[in-house]
Amino acid sequence: MSTHLTPSDRTFMKHFAMMIAMLAGTAVVLMIVGTFVWESLPKESNQREMLRAADRIAPVASVYAGDTGRAAMEAAKAAAAKAAAAQVAYGGTTDGKVIFGKLCTTCHSTGAAGAPMITDKAAWAPRIKQGIATLVQHAINGYKGPTGNGPLMPPKGGNPALTDAQVEATVKWMVSQVQ
Ligand code: HEC
Repeated sequence: MSTHLTPSDRTFMKHFAMMIAMLAGTAVVLMIVGTFVWESLPKESNQREMLRAADRIAPVASVYAGDTGRAAMEAAKAAAAKAAAAQVAYGGTTDGKVIFGKLCTTCHSTGAAGAPMITDKAAWAPRIKQGIATLVQHAINGYKGPTGNGPLMPPKGGNPALTDAQVEATVKWMVSQVQ
């Protein structure tokens, strides 16, 4: 074959091969540079995508009750029970005198807001005639006198954490004071 190549063909082939080699070399250099640049750039981090991924791989339930976990759960339960007890007014006492002293006295010892005073037997006499059950109901549900236009006795004296039993005990104690 080579015998058919003229000297100018050979020169062309030489130059052409050199050109191909140079182009290939340039391509390799560009690939290396490109790879280096890509490595050195900070990777894009999509906050929302990361959150979504964290969501997807989150465990279905997160309660782990090993010995440590169980102890923590017991402690949490005890704390919750204590918090629930604190929700009951005045430590849950059914001592009417104590509850009166902590709440009802605000109005019923001063006559504030038009409340019948604990010392005013005359004011209480007609109320007591309604019967203790009615007084208790009025104290629990709130009351604005027989006409509905009187001064407001707020439900449970304004403390919804009081139980009905606590209100009843307090009303009974109040009545015992004005009879
Ligand atoms: C914000 C003031 C206020 C507080 C606090 C308050 N009262 Fe009263 N109470 C009133 C007023 C005012 C009346 C009179 C309502 C009326 O007849 O219009 C009243 C009336 C009553 C009556 C008579 C209801 C009737 O049927 O005549 C009872 C019993 C009573 N209160 C119990 C209590 C108890 C128990 C507490 C505490 C738990 C309490 N009150 C706290 C304002 C108050």
